[in-house]
Amino acid sequence: MALVNDHFLKLSNNYLFADIAKKVTAFKVTHPKADVISLGIGDVTQPLCPAVIEAMHKATDEMATSQGFRGYGPEQGYDFLREAILKNDFLPRGIHLDIDEIFINDGAKSDTGNIQELIRWDNSIAVTDPIYPVYIDSNVMIGRAGVQEEGRWSNVTYLPCTSENGFVPDLPEQRVDVIYLCYPNNPTGTVISKQELRKWVNYALKNDALIFYDAAYQAFITDPDVPHSIYEIRGARKCAIEFHSYSKTAGFTGVRCGYTIVPKDLTASTLTGERIHLNPLWLRRQSTKFNGTSYISQRAAEAIYTPEGRQQVQKTIDYYMQNAHEMLSALRSIGYEVYGGENAPYIWMKTPHGSSSWQFFMDLLYGANVVCTPGVGFGPSGEGYVRFTAFGNHEQTEEALQRIMDYS
Ligand SMILES: Cc1ncc(COP(=O)(O)O)c(C=O)c1O
Repeated sequence: MALVNDHFLKLSNNYLFADIAKKVTAFKVTHPKADVISLGIGDVTQPLCPAVIEAMHKATDEMATSQGFRGYGPEQGYDFLREAILKNDFLPRGIHLDIDEIFINDGAKSDTGNIQELIRWDNSIAVTDPIYPVYIDSNVMIGRAGVQEEGRWSNVTYLPCTSENGFVPDLPEQRVDVIYLCYPNNPTGTVISKQELRKWVNYALKNDALIFYDAAYQAFITDPDVPHSIYEIRGARKCAIEFHSYSKTAGFTGVRCGYTIVPKDLTASTLTGERIHLNPLWLRRQSTKFNGTSYISQRAAEAIYTPEGRQQVQKTIDYYMQNAHEMLSALRSIGYEVYGGENAPYIWMKTPHGSSSWQFFMDLLYGANVVCTPGVGFGPSGEGYVRFTAFGNHEQTEEALQRIMDYS
């Protein structure tokens, strides 16, 4: 008899965005003439930039020749891309990485979910709350999260991020082994200063803990005091793994490419106290379970670092951030309490009159035909908030804001 991994059965069947889709479909059935605008799901809307398209065409043409054809590539990625990353994303910030510390991935979701394989099942984990759901669910799947009681997992330490603490969590009261941090944050759109991040690095070093740092939205940072990488903080090489993605930076949600940094200084302990380097362990894991990101996607990513690529990608980021600024000022002008949206493409809004996240979602859907994301779907501290994304088309975003203003 084959026994199922019953930790999977503990996972909620209700995937947040499937739930939203169901409610929107029900609304459309009863209101067939309504033109619904979604500011809900966090996918991008603008096309790939010309430099990326050209690089993809060129790579495809190469694949059509016997000299240029590429089969399996290196599991950790091609050097041309890893060198471009070193030179462009890290050296200008004074961060020196070895090329073998960079692992090209097929987007940050896979690696933020898979990285927990490097640590024993009985490590304790802490997450900021609300949170990108992949961090917890991937720990549930292997039994590390415990059991769920009233929306909380028994073996997970939740670090509330609310307007009261400026969305920067306090250090855990009890020691934890692993901490997931994501800045700029999805869903709150808020950021962490270098000074605050230093506290976390110091905590990790002092407590022999690991930080899994998700920097998927770093390209949206404009404030000079906000770190783009945790390695801007001294000591982070000894305690942190960092995840990057081209999905939101350059519209790669359908292309699939990003990278993960596992420093060579990073170690974790065996039960007998032996220190084990995590970089070779991750390489071993990847060589066994991952056959690399496609050559065409990696050439596409490389093109983002050319002068034209940089300029074009920045133009699209500016387009989304223009949406974000308009959303902030429109929502503020009608008295809503809103956060984020300055160094990130998400707006986090307190629901009015103490309504629940889902109640406000329904009110907005039926009252303004606009879709947002209920904050509670990202964790208990998200109750009483909703998320709006700035990744929409500009005209539709303006139309949605007008409707929200008329409705409110
Ligand atoms: C915080 C965060 N990390 C990672 C990802 C995954 O992105 P991808 O797998 O497309 O690189 C997302 C996507 O929405 C995200 O919001």
